[in-house]
Amino acid sequence: HRHLLGIEGLKAPEIEGLLDLAEDAAKSIRRPGEVRTDLRGRTLINLFFENSTRTQSSFEFAAKRLGADVMNMSIPTSSMQKGETLIDTAVTLNAMWPDLLVVRHQAAGAVELLSQKVDCSVINAGDGAHEHPTQALLDALTIRRHKGRISRLIVALCGDILHSRVARSNILLLNTMGARVRVIGPSTLLGSAIHKLGVEVYTSMEEGLADADVVMMLRLQRERMTSSLIPSQREYFHFFGLDHEKLKLAKPDAIVMHPGPMNRGVEIDSVIADDERSVVNEQVEMGVAVRMAVLQALIPHLRK
Ligand code: CP
Repeated sequence: HRHLLGIEGLKAPEIEGLLDLAEDAAKSIRRPGEVRTDLRGRTLINLFFENSTRTQSSFEFAAKRLGADVMNMSIPTSSMQKGETLIDTAVTLNAMWPDLLVVRHQAAGAVELLSQKVDCSVINAGDGAHEHPTQALLDALTIRRHKGRISRLIVALCGDILHSRVARSNILLLNTMGARVRVIGPSTLLGSAIHKLGVEVYTSMEEGLADADVVMMLRLQRERMTSSLIPSQREYFHFFGLDHEKLKLAKPDAIVMHPGPMNRGVEIDSVIADDERSVVNEQVEMGVAVRMAVLQALIPHLRK
């Protein structure tokens, strides 16, 4: 593939291959000074229309670890503020001959549309509520490192499923890899189409968390909600926030995940966020490894 636009369409051996590559890359992350030359002479542009702490910086880290040059495009100071369109901006950057464009955009489908207009490789760093493929891959790698496998695990995705590209990409990946996926949340945040995704659906944390191997908490995506849908934070935490009592229902060796950014005291108790079962910081570290793997996998397909 020339681009990575989503998990949709990836087959199990391809996902396994990327995770194996990332497992190898993970070994180099804690070795300061180790820079590979795989991407020497290549240029990556980060083009982020939505805020990011983890994804943008880890793409920069990953590309630099592989010897690439990185340019972080600043949207607020770009000529988009003078009325230039997304596509004209992408085509303009493409004319400078970058090799890779990493794009985050608030509209589902925007990254795929953009990929059709440029010659360089495009990686989706999150498009609206549609997909966030590298997040699902880093989550899968973290799960595999703790559980040794993904197939047959019970994975509970909890919270705002409806607006979450992380949930969608995870559901696609976990189903492809043979996990049992549960989604838990208030019905207003599950969406009427959820049953079509091949998941078990729960509106009660107590029922959905029973015997789970992996508990993945998701942030309320307020920026994608109309104000009438935004629940009260106190009430939401009472019913759907992960605390000790609720976590007791999962398997004793269950791991707690969160893609970040976390809202402590809303979807997750601050104590649980820092609990030894929380693998949140490992997810961030694996984010660098997975992004290195994705960049390596695209090398044979980069523009000539
Ligand atoms: N998980 C994630 O995508 O985090 P950022 O929004 O900080 O990149």
